[in-house]
Amino acid sequence: MKERIEQLIAEIGALKAVSLDEVEQLRLKYLSKKGLVSALFDDFKSVPSEKKREVGQLLNELKNKAQQRLDELKTEFGATEETNVFSVDLTRPADNMEPGTRHPLSIVRNQIIGIFGRIGFTVADGPEIEDDWHNFSALNFEANHPARDMQDTFFIEENPDILLRTHTSSAQIRTMESRKPPIRMIFPGRVFRNEAISARAHCIFHQVEGLYIDKNVSFADLKQSLMYFAKEMFGEQTKIRLRPSYFPFTEPSGEMDVSCNICGGKGCNICKYTGWVEILGCGMVDPNVLENCGIDSQTYTGFAFGMGIERITMLKYQIRDLRLFFENDVRFLKQFTGAL
Ligand code: PHE
Repeated sequence: MKERIEQLIAEIGALKAVSLDEVEQLRLKYLSKKGLVSALFDDFKSVPSEKKREVGQLLNELKNKAQQRLDELKTEFGATEETNVFSVDLTRPADNMEPGTRHPLSIVRNQIIGIFGRIGFTVADGPEIEDDWHNFSALNFEANHPARDMQDTFFIEENPDILLRTHTSSAQIRTMESRKPPIRMIFPGRVFRNEAISARAHCIFHQVEGLYIDKNVSFADLKQSLMYFAKEMFGEQTKIRLRPSYFPFTEPSGEMDVSCNICGGKGCNICKYTGWVEILGCGMVDPNVLENCGIDSQTYTGFAFGMGIERITMLKYQIRDLRLFFENDVRFLKQFTGAL
């Protein structure tokens, strides 16, 4: 009997099959109630008791090996316990699949794209990893401007400097270098600054840059475009206010506030009781910047603006903590189902 078992162990180790059907045939042959292994277990009863221990061990080994080899063959044909055709209940109701929701930042970005699309702005983007020229130098930043400091900017390499863009204004340069006016485009994208993370600031956030270059573009065009935007985004009753400001790449420069859409301008803790909330920086493109990109500043003028998507989204949906945008908490994200 010992020889017979050893022979079967060898045989089973070398078993092959070409289909799942054949594997099943082998299972019947060896392991079913009437199979060869079961027959040996029957014979085991007549083994003399002094040999029972040794033969019993061998027999168990045979059974385990046979089971193992058949399992191996089964998985060769892609059958696991779950996919085994016999274990699938085709009448079972399907799992409930909830549709996902768009991220609030995507909802607002798409709205911004739509609003500017209606007045002829097309969309492009630029790289998030930039060189010094596109992020700073071509935009008229001085060599020792504080924004170039390690405290504010994530540098990847130095000399020549490669960095994570600190604003989408770099996309202005890439566009003006590669195409001729008229240019009327917006550039949504992710930007990076070396800032401590808090309810109001993050080291990653999103901006939409706008650029309009043509003959005879004036500050009045800038103001009108931004007023149209503010009313479309926050409602017809919205007022805007432009305050003088400074950016190296625009002259004159301004910052735009919208009347607080939460208290309607009366004053609340969102607008810090001023009735106004700042949403963007803007200005007329500095002639130096045009020349840096090979555009004749005697013939062409233009305006640019850059707005923070987080800021606008917080205002629109009354979200008080910017970190919520990055935590992927479905309890937060699910609240935007209706805004698809
Ligand atoms: N790039 C500026 C910022 O990030 C915003 C801006 C864009 C200002 C275009 C003027 C013109 O703060």
